[in-house]
Amino acid sequence: MASTLYILNGPNLNLLGHREPEIYGSQTLEDVRLMCEAAAGQAGLETVFRQSNAEHDLIDWVHEAREAAAGIIINPAAYTHTSIALLDALSACSCPVIEVHISNIHKRESFRHHSYVSARADAVIAGCGVEGYVLAVQHMVRLCAMG
Ligand code: DQA
Repeated sequence: MASTLYILNGPNLNLLGHREPEIYGSQTLEDVRLMCEAAAGQAGLETVFRQSNAEHDLIDWVHEAREAAAGIIINPAAYTHTSIALLDALSACSCPVIEVHISNIHKRESFRHHSYVSARADAVIAGCGVEGYVLAVQHMVRLCAMG
């Protein structure tokens, strides 16, 4: 049985900690990776943690996860609001999917209020800062245990 969580990050999240810190905070994506690895490790799960600015990379990684992952945690960043292709890729997966946003997208500009990915996500976490990733890992552990 798969025991690996795929944690995928979309465009501009490589700039986390430097980009608009008043919205996204001062912790870097490397900090987030370490937090996720620690949370998953406590449950005996491995993580694959990746970021890309390219939509096709995210889609290819979801295809990979389709075969290899116990669950997918994804912050699709701006592709949240635009990518039917990413929704379709996630819809082809049978494992649990959790969508994470660092900021509360519903409190921001109206173009951020709609998420294509939410149509497939089993849970959505928004507005908890980078702590949302840890909450997502913890919830994913419970979803995986439920089978
Ligand atoms: C984000 C919210 C998106 O609207 C935005 O495009 C991002 C980050 C978040 O984590 O809050 O890049 O997904």
